[in-house]
Amino acid sequence: MHQSMIWGVAISAAQTESAHDSYGKGPSIWDEFCNKKPFRFFGKSKVKNSHHLKDSADFYHQYKTDIDHIKYIGFKHFRFSIAWSRVMPDGVNINPEGVEFYKSLIDYCLEQDITPWITLYHWDLPAALEKKGGWTNRDILTYFNDYAMFCVRSFPQVNHWVILNEPSVFLGAGYLFGIHAPGRKSFDAFLKATHHAMLCIGMTYRSIKKEFPQHSVGSSFSMTQIDPHSNKSRDIKAARIADLLINRFFFEPLLGHGYPTAEVKRMEAIKDCMLPGDEVLLPTPLDFIGIQTYTREVFKYHPLNPFLKIKHIPAHKRTIDLTAMNWEIHAKSIYANIMKIEAYQLNIPIIVTENGVAFEDEVVLGRVNDFKRIHYFQTHINEVIKAKNEGANVQGYFAWSLIDNFEWAEGYQPRFGLIYVDFITKKRILKESAYWFRRHLNSSLYA
Ligand code: BGC
Repeated sequence: MHQSMIWGVAISAAQTESAHDSYGKGPSIWDEFCNKKPFRFFGKSKVKNSHHLKDSADFYHQYKTDIDHIKYIGFKHFRFSIAWSRVMPDGVNINPEGVEFYKSLIDYCLEQDITPWITLYHWDLPAALEKKGGWTNRDILTYFNDYAMFCVRSFPQVNHWVILNEPSVFLGAGYLFGIHAPGRKSFDAFLKATHHAMLCIGMTYRSIKKEFPQHSVGSSFSMTQIDPHSNKSRDIKAARIADLLINRFFFEPLLGHGYPTAEVKRMEAIKDCMLPGDEVLLPTPLDFIGIQTYTREVFKYHPLNPFLKIKHIPAHKRTIDLTAMNWEIHAKSIYANIMKIEAYQLNIPIIVTENGVAFEDEVVLGRVNDFKRIHYFQTHINEVIKAKNEGANVQGYFAWSLIDNFEWAEGYQPRFGLIYVDFITKKRILKESAYWFRRHLNSSLYA
């Protein structure tokens, strides 16, 4: 039944590679964000516990060990990202050593019979480009297109490409709320950056397909299930508005529906960021749609909220079933999200490009008994299979993450890996969840 299902595991460059300023790599906005202090030289870092991505898992030097582990566990697909500032330190000029690194990594995957899926952008913009305006500057389209085409031409053995990882998160957290790199807090910047990111997906898709029609090119979107606090019609409306702002705004333009602004007039300002002809560039017939679900959120009507009249009810006020990110564990969300995409009748494969959970794992007598993570994966995968059995065109599932990583503004405390990493010695220990995957990937259900 599920023979065609793709089973993989994912990581990203900034979260795992380390070697952040060696081998010719230039600084990215995340390097700068980790160094940032509110008053230039003092004050608290914007990353929890002042953690820094330079101290991550050292994937740059240990990639062979990690790929050996992927093979041992039994995943046949591996999604990782290219650090733009490693192959082009200033976003434009090439660093041959960086290119060589990814060549070796790809070759090693292929030698081990593991199919690479490359994410072109997992949030680590070269700092030099941010100085030119980053995603708010329309020139980003040319810079990104040149970078993407350079990668696709340099690594022709790679058939699977993911253009952008979760635009809603890097745009919302990075440009509107200032809690992620580049730390900007501007509604105008957020709208401009959003429009450019949407155009970027369309333009990059077309450029790659023109030269490499056989490649499979998609993009990944954060999909959080949004539920109303009650069945009252005003709470239902509040949830609908939150869904528009958190999810739909960042993929519907690509599906040919335009920006969904009808219920939130303020978002109509995005039209001021558009040039004549942009409406035709947005709809993009992606080869697959990547969805990434971790949790769900609940919203209710709130008359005192001046613009939106909605209020978020945080997970810790609703449940005790929380992860180390303080997110609710809610397996049915992944089913709901697959079905939601299915309802657009896109007739393209849906790939779950990320799903996983963080806990504060501990090593006890050399083992990491992460049974709660096993339960999370088991229940979520069951929901994915349920959607597939009911006819949804879901064709793949990637667990997040292979190894414990730098969890952006949350630092190193939340551990997402199937493999535990001692961030001092860089030693790896397979968690029980890795052994669980090994058993299940080899069993008939997942064959
Ligand atoms: C991102 C990952 C991140 C994960 C857990 C996704 O939004 O793509 O980089 O580690 O969520 O927060």
